[in-house]
Amino acid sequence: MTARRRILVTSALPYANGSIHLGYLLEAVQTDVWVRFQKLRGNECYYVCADDTHGTPIMLKAQTEGITPEALIAKVNIEHQRDLAEMLIGFDNFGSTHSPENEVLCDDLYRTLRAAGHIDRKTISQAYDDTAKMFLPDRYVKGVCPVCGTADQYGDSCENCGSTYTPADLKNPISVVSGTAPVWRDSEHYFFKLSTFEASLAAWVKSGAVQESIARKLEEWFTQGLRDWDISRDAPYFGFEIPDAPGKYFYVWFDAPIGYLASFTQLCARTGLKFDDFLRKDANTELHHFIGKDILYFHTLFWPAVLEGSGLRRPTSVHAHGFVTINGQKMSKSRGTFITARRYLDSFKAEYLRYYFCAKLGPGIDDLDMNLDEFTTRVNSEIVGKLVNIASRCAGFITKNAAGTLAATLPEPGLYAEFADAGEKIAAAYEARDTASAVREIMALADRANQYIDARKPWSLAKDPANAAEVRSVCTQGLNLFRVLMVYLQPALPEMAVQAQRFFQEGAWTWDSVAAPLLGTTISPYQPLATRLDPKAVAKLVEPPPEAVATVTASPGAQATVTVKVTAPPAAPPPTRRATASTAASDEATLAAAAAVEGNSISIDDFLRVDLRVAKVLSADLIPGADKLLKLRLDVGDLGERDVFAGVRAAYEPAALVGRLIVVVANLEPRKMRFGVSEGMMLAAGPGGREIFVLSPDSGALPGMRIK
Ligand code: MSP
Ligand code: ZN
Repeated sequence: MTARRRILVTSALPYANGSIHLGYLLEAVQTDVWVRFQKLRGNECYYVCADDTHGTPIMLKAQTEGITPEALIAKVNIEHQRDLAEMLIGFDNFGSTHSPENEVLCDDLYRTLRAAGHIDRKTISQAYDDTAKMFLPDRYVKGVCPVCGTADQYGDSCENCGSTYTPADLKNPISVVSGTAPVWRDSEHYFFKLSTFEASLAAWVKSGAVQESIARKLEEWFTQGLRDWDISRDAPYFGFEIPDAPGKYFYVWFDAPIGYLASFTQLCARTGLKFDDFLRKDANTELHHFIGKDILYFHTLFWPAVLEGSGLRRPTSVHAHGFVTINGQKMSKSRGTFITARRYLDSFKAEYLRYYFCAKLGPGIDDLDMNLDEFTTRVNSEIVGKLVNIASRCAGFITKNAAGTLAATLPEPGLYAEFADAGEKIAAAYEARDTASAVREIMALADRANQYIDARKPWSLAKDPANAAEVRSVCTQGLNLFRVLMVYLQPALPEMAVQAQRFFQEGAWTWDSVAAPLLGTTISPYQPLATRLDPKAVAKLVEPPPEAVATVTASPGAQATVTVKVTAPPAAPPPTRRATASTAASDEATLAAAAAVEGNSISIDDFLRVDLRVAKVLSADLIPGADKLLKLRLDVGDLGERDVFAGVRAAYEPAALVGRLIVVVANLEPRKMRFGVSEGMMLAAGPGGREIFVLSPDSGALPGMRIK
C-alpha cells in the first residue's frame, strides 16, 4: 500500500463574460476524471475552481447590458455552476475571483512581493480613448497593419501576415470602444520583476513539473529572455485596487491565479482543512493545475514566480491540454460550431461526452477533434453495445430464474482475476492523464466479457430448466466482469457507476472493490443504464442555436434575451406558505426529507442516487374510495410511461394537472397500494392538505430530462 497522498487540484478559471462551451468542458472533464480517480484510489484530493471575473471585457459587457459588473458576474456564476454540475464536475469549491478572500490574498501576496523588492514602477505610454475616458488594452485598438497594409487588424498582431506589434504601430488606429482615434498618454505602471526568477524557474521546469513538449517550449522563452510583467491597469477597471496606489488596479491575470488559492481558502473555512498544509513553502502535499495550451506562459512562468516571490510553494505540476475542434474546425459562433454546454446538456447525457473525451484524450497537447458521427458511433457501439450490453444480457436471468441472487462461486475465477489484475495498468494510465489508454484497456476487457457470454449463450441454456444452475453461474460471471469494468470507469462515468452500485446493492466503491467478486448476494432488477444516440439529434448540435432567433433588441445598442415563464395558478387559494420540505406521496418520505434538512447532510453521490426527472402529466383521475389521492399517468421521456399516486387531491382538480410538467422521483421502489402500484413520487412543497404545491420546471424542459 502506498501512502495516502494529499492533493489540491484546479482547472483554469472560466471568464465570467461567456457561457461554458465544449472547449472548457474538455478541461473540466479531464480534471474531474483525474480527481475522481485520485479519490477512488483513496487519496485525499480536493478540486477547486472559480469564475474569472475581472478586466476590461467584463466591465464593458456589463455596460452594454446596462447592469453593474457585480450583477453580471453573479448571473454568470449561477449559470456556470449549474452547467458544470450537470456535467458532473465535482468541485469541492467553486468561487469567484471577485471575493473578499481573493482581495485579502492579492493584497497579502502583493505586499510580500513589494517588501522583497520584486515590484518596480515604470511610466509607459498607452493608447487612451478620450471619449470613453479610458486606457485601451491592445485588442481594443484596431487599424491598418503596418507591415502588409491589411485593414481592420487588432493592436497586437495581424491575422493576415502574422506580424506582432504594438497599437502605436498601427496606421489609422481607432478605439473599438467609441470608434474615435485614440491618443497616447503616459501612465505609471507596476511591474513584477520576472527576470529575477529565471534560474529557479528553469530548475522548476527541469523538476518534471511540465510535460516534455512544454519544457521545450519554455526553453524558447528562456532563450528569448524573461521580461518584467505589467501587473497594473488604470481606472476605470473592474478589479481590485492596488494597495497604496489609488486609481491603479491589479491586472486580471495577477488576481486570477490567486483566485485558485482564494477558492481553496473558502474550502478550508468550511471543512477545517489547513491552507498552509497545501501552500507553505516546504509543504509535503501536491498542487496540480490543469490548463489549456493557450495560457501556458501565465501558469509556467508568472505564476510559479509569483508563488516563489511570495514565499509560497510552487505547483507540483501544470498539465496542459490541446483545443477542442468540431468536425475538424475551430469552434466558431458564425459557423454554428460554437457548442455551449447548455446546448449539449439539454439533449444528451453528460456521461456520453465525458466518455468520448476520455476515449480521445491523451497526456499531450494535441487538439481533440469532436467528430459528431464518431461521437455517436462510439457511444452506441462502446457504451451501449459493449459495456451495458454485458449487464443487460445477464441481469434478467438472475432476477427471473435465480430469485435475484448471484451464484456462490465463479465458474471462471481465472478470467475474473485477469480483469482484476488489469487494474494497476489502467490506474497508471489514469494517473498519467492518458485516459485514451485507460479506455482502450477497459474496452478490450469488455470485448473479452462479451466473448465469454457469446460462447456460453445463457439465453439458449435458459430454454431448458435443467440448466438453471449453469445459467446462474454464467450470468454471475458476466455480471462480475461488468462490475469490474464499472469500477474502472467510475471516474469517467460517475452517475452510471452509482446506478451500477445500486443494481449490485452495494455502497460506494473504491478502486480495490475489484479485489474480490460479488457472490451469493442479491441484486436489484436491472434498469437500462444507457440508450442509443440518434445521429440526427446529434447533428443538430451544430445548427445555429434557436436563441439567435429569440433575441430581441430591448434598447438601442443593448441586447436582451427574453425568457417566458409559464406558471399555472394553483387550484386552491394561496394559503400562507411554510418552509417545510415535503413530498406529496408519503409520510415516510416527509420524515426522511425533514431528517435530511436537520443536519444529516448527504454527499453529492448520495444525491445522484435519486433519479429526479421531468415528467408530463398525461391524465389525472379521481380514485373512488380515496379522498386524498389522485392517480396520475406520466410520460417520463426515455423511461416510458408510468402510474404514480399522489396525495394532492385536496389541493388540485385533476384537470388542472393534465398537460403540466412536473418533477418525479423515478427510481423509487414501486409501492403496492390499495388501488394499484405507484411507480414513483411526484414532488410538491407544503405541509399537505390544501397547502400543497406541485413543483414544475420552467417551460422548455422535456419529459425524461434529469434534474440535478
Ligand atoms: N480566465 C482565463 C484563465 C485564468 S486561470 C487563472 C481563461 N479563461 S477562458 O475561459 O478563456 O479559458 C478557460 C480554459 O478553457 C483555458 O484553460 C483554456 O485553454 C480552455 N479552453 C478555451 N477554449 C478551449 C477549447 N476550444 N478547447 C479546449 N480548451 C479550451 O483563459
Ligand atoms: Zn499584416
